[in-house]
Amino acid sequence: MITPGQKIGTFQVGNLIGEGATASVFHATDTKLNRPVAIKVLKEDLPESSRERFVREVKTLVEVRHAAIVHVYTAGIEGGSPYYVMEHLSGRSIKEMITHRKGKGVPVFRHDEILSIGRQLAEALGALHKARIIHRDLKPSNVMIVPPMKAKVIDFGLVQVGSGARMGERSRGLGTQAYMSPEQLEGGLIGEQSDLFQIGLILHEMVTGEQLGGHGVPPWFGKSQWNPPLPSSTDPKLPPDLEKAIVARPLRDPRPHRHRRDGGGVSRHPERPRSAGGHQGHEG
Ligand SMILES: Nc1ncnc2c1ncn2[C@@H]1O[C@H](COP(=O)(O)OP(=O)(O)OP(=O)(O)O)[C@@H](O)[C@H]1O
Ligand SMILES: [Mg+2]
Repeated sequence: MITPGQKIGTFQVGNLIGEGATASVFHATDTKLNRPVAIKVLKEDLPESSRERFVREVKTLVEVRHAAIVHVYTAGIEGGSPYYVMEHLSGRSIKEMITHRKGKGVPVFRHDEILSIGRQLAEALGALHKARIIHRDLKPSNVMIVPPMKAKVIDFGLVQVGSGARMGERSRGLGTQAYMSPEQLEGGLIGEQSDLFQIGLILHEMVTGEQLGGHGVPPWFGKSQWNPPLPSSTDPKLPPDLEKAIVARPLRDPRPHRHRRDGGGVSRHPERPRSAGGHQGHEG
């Protein structure tokens, strides 16, 4: 447990900023460099091997320097709790901004804003993937916007180092179900496309203000062939190029091979996603 007032190395822990099902984020001060930082602390009671793996994987982010990825300074374990220290951001998540702007018409974000954020996120993915890091939990609450319109990918609680890895039994289904690609939900090969799929869902939501799918279920679930609803059906003025950038590659039906082979396994046995593991219910 890490609590306000505590000191971890040179970091003086301050107030709680945010709290999710699995983690708490605190303000802190780097007393050596005299600058504000944020510390994210995992709450879960992880076995020692998982704690060490988490710290090892998050530490690979220290080397990743990109304007659209929160800069991670260091990671460690304190009193049994894994934590990482990062640059402190003053801004709001895309999720908070959607909530705030919703009901004032569509698109919820202006077209130039969506284009700019889409570009920044695509570049951020490029930098992560070049470092062989798959984020696995991209969603509107895990991208912060720092004024005027700078995107910052946060929340590295589920990063996986080494692309093309199969989701192991233990981590199968981990993540946020509503934003999961089939390979992630079903324990398949996780890769760059899994992150890109989630970016497509984020941008779609920035146009319409509505989560695709909804009710905690990913939009493709239970459909033999998934054609994402076009955001232009909500926003007829959406430029075709922008629409294409959102749906064509990121949101293409990610299961073509399986369909050809067995005619669509998921759809023939529709059931709600498993609720074991992960934090499907919360929106952190
Ligand atoms: N670097 C940061 N600077 C300022 N605020 C931050 C920073 N990182 C996170 N936050 C705040 O804390 C909230 C939660 O952060 P994050 O998404 O990393 O944790 P979480 O959702 O609790 O984790 P999990 O998704 O594992 O449950 C964010 O929505 C944001 O408000
Ligand atoms: Mg989060």
